[in-house]
Amino acid sequence: MTIEKLCFAYDTAQILGGIDLEVEAGAFVCLLGQSGCGKSTLLRLLAGLEKPRTGQILVDGEPVTGPGLERGVVFQDYGLFPWMSAGDNITIALKQKFPSLSAAERREKALRRLAEVELDATSFDKFPRELSGGMRQRCAIARAFGIDPPILLMDEPFAALDAVTRARLQELVLDLWQKETARRKTIFFVTHDVDEALYLATDIAILGQSPSKIIYRHAFGRDKQLTRSTMYKDPQIVELRNDLIRIINEEIIQLKAANGQGA
Ligand SMILES: Nc1ncnc2c1ncn2[C@@H]1O[C@H](COP(=O)(O)OP(=O)(O)O)[C@@H](O)[C@H]1O
Ligand SMILES: [Mg+2]
Repeated sequence: MTIEKLCFAYDTAQILGGIDLEVEAGAFVCLLGQSGCGKSTLLRLLAGLEKPRTGQILVDGEPVTGPGLERGVVFQDYGLFPWMSAGDNITIALKQKFPSLSAAERREKALRRLAEVELDATSFDKFPRELSGGMRQRCAIARAFGIDPPILLMDEPFAALDAVTRARLQELVLDLWQKETARRKTIFFVTHDVDEALYLATDIAILGQSPSKIIYRHAFGRDKQLTRSTMYKDPQIVELRNDLIRIINEEIIQLKAANGQGA
């Protein structure tokens, strides 16, 4: 996926000010940035839900012109249709992606996907309002992996969850992604959580203040192997963590200084 000179504005408010980013197939990119800098806007453009003012997004060399089944999306909290059971939320997506499957096959596949995210068969008939936040996001992940898109776009999917649930869902997404050794999905994951990005990402990018550009990139090698319990014993990781926090905050400090407000 290639993002080229991407600019976007809502009416006259310039949000994205020329984004260039090359995302390798199979990468797990975490996009960091302050609240309001345009992360969700960029994700919506990647999803094809908004159109660039100028510049373009290419997937396999073709410009993105709208939503497509090759790009799945998981949002923070409004991803499931509230009027459908968890199971139907998955089977309706499967029907769109795999029209030749029978209803029984779709149900079977949805149940397998639910089991994979540790939701038992009784969740199939529950409505999103009957599920906890963590269970809803498990269901959204089951649906996203169920339609098996080569590109998965995730917008702060765990931001509303408690720390323990968040950690478990991070493990789950990593497992599902790593399991596909033959052809890993490209994951584009928006977060404002530096620790989440450090743990999950093969590549980290920071979006600056709007009109925003990519102001920093870090690529871990393909052999990145961090464990949650030991990662902060590695001085390089600690240094990187400090750098990321400093870079995210630096622009704000500079902006305040420029406005005579001090930091
Ligand atoms: N639909 C919209 N119409 C007008 N302005 C919007 C809209 N959505 C977001 N914005 C504005 O665009 C900026 C970037 O928002 P967003 O992409 O949601 O940031 P982030 O996800 O990084 O917090 C914010 O100033 C926000 O108020
Ligand atoms: Mg956002």
